[in-house]
Amino acid sequence: MGQISPERDPVQDRNSVVSAEAASTPEIAVRGRIPSGPAEKYDSSQDLLRWMSEQFDRFGDIYKASIYGASVYVTREPEHAEHVLRGNWQNYTKGQTIKRVALLLGNGLMTSEGEFWRSQRRMIQPAFHRAAIEALCTTITDANVTLLKKWEQAARRGDSINVTRGVSGMVLEVVLRSIFGDDYLTVAQHYNILFEENARNLEFAQAFRSLEKIIFGLATQRRGRKKKEADILGMLLEARDQKTGKAMADRQLVNEIKTLIVAGHETTTSTLCWSWYLLSQNPAVEENLSIELNSMPANQVSKLDELPKFRYARQIIDEAMRLYPPGWLMTRKARKDDRLGKYFVPAGTEIYIPPYFIQRNPNLWEEPERFNPDRFTPGRSTDRHPMAMIPFSAGPRNCIGEVFARVEMQIHIMTCARRLRLRSNETKSPELDVGVNLRSKHDLVMIPELTASAG
Ligand code: HEM
Repeated sequence: MGQISPERDPVQDRNSVVSAEAASTPEIAVRGRIPSGPAEKYDSSQDLLRWMSEQFDRFGDIYKASIYGASVYVTREPEHAEHVLRGNWQNYTKGQTIKRVALLLGNGLMTSEGEFWRSQRRMIQPAFHRAAIEALCTTITDANVTLLKKWEQAARRGDSINVTRGVSGMVLEVVLRSIFGDDYLTVAQHYNILFEENARNLEFAQAFRSLEKIIFGLATQRRGRKKKEADILGMLLEARDQKTGKAMADRQLVNEIKTLIVAGHETTTSTLCWSWYLLSQNPAVEENLSIELNSMPANQVSKLDELPKFRYARQIIDEAMRLYPPGWLMTRKARKDDRLGKYFVPAGTEIYIPPYFIQRNPNLWEEPERFNPDRFTPGRSTDRHPMAMIPFSAGPRNCIGEVFARVEMQIHIMTCARRLRLRSNETKSPELDVGVNLRSKHDLVMIPELTASAG
């Protein structure tokens, strides 16, 4: 009796055809080569980030590997990212790692595909237009002023603060207020699980799923009210499909709301925590930031069109996302045969595009491991490949919340760093937790000190 055949490996199948022929045959010239890579499979007990890094050292900017039972091309070439995410994006679906996300979020914007995704994106996009973000600036400022007061009190008492929890609570409040508006107080207590629980396992997924009834309930209540709310839930209830004219089904509404809560929470929190840690390790950068922030009027609500003036604060956030992109790995799967430069991509191949490695690629970045916000001064950014920096991805499936997140992160840094410096007693850089998102393994605990401008 024959053995149960292993999962079909499309690259291996085609590769055997290719290797049976001489490299100079016309067929290979048309198809292109298969990248070289490790003979050994990735063993899931290993740290995937470290393993991928070792393979880049061995094989260069693209390699072929067997990861989680699939044939994968892992690439840190910006041209390849450009091709898969923009140029020929329609040939790619989300890859295997999206299954973990789907378990938590169901079929929402992050995980859906094809015409259904396109129609959902069209309906949700207006909630992230400039006017909507502008309206959120007061909410973001208020949440940060409340957090700052707590941190200032701790500074006066000489207490340390848990930065991860503080930031996570603020980010959760902002995302929940943006979605539920005046109903925030009704929902807030139920969603605390997002910052009280660090694990993102099956139990968490179940607990999170049990919160769906709150969204269903609110949607029903809102439909019964005359007044149309201007928050995201209100906008999604009013949204209509361009072709059919139909509203979103309740089940879909719930999936989309869950997606926005999770996608907007962990990513933003993580970037802000890394920003504080990196600032604490780089006093010269901290000093430059406080010079910039001294020009900021006290107790003023941040306005959207004022934010670009505070360029250095933005550069710090960009540099933190370059070194520690929360979405450190994007995966895609080829629908049909394709090519990546000189390489042939058989249908079914997974393409791993890791912003973490593109953004540390030594061919694209000088001293890639060094924290240096000056690399984002306008003059220095012009000759860089547009795909050298893709923390929010690129192309049609880019992050819908990019502007929202950028505004929120900048207001946080500006509000808090103007009054406080956060010191770290850590001598080693925080250990990484390499999951769907790249986070620090442990909460970041720091010591707040009042700056001169805090008086
Ligand atoms: C620093 C903060 C953030 C980062 C670094 C980030 C990063 C990303 C990345 C890399 C993707 C593409 C994932 C992929 O293609 O596999 C993505 C998609 C997405 N993000 Fe964000 N994100 C952030 C904040 C937010 C916020 C605040 C929201 C909403 C409130 C949000 C909602 C989404 C959604 C819904 C998608 C799926 C879009 C689609 O496929 O059409 N994100 N994000």
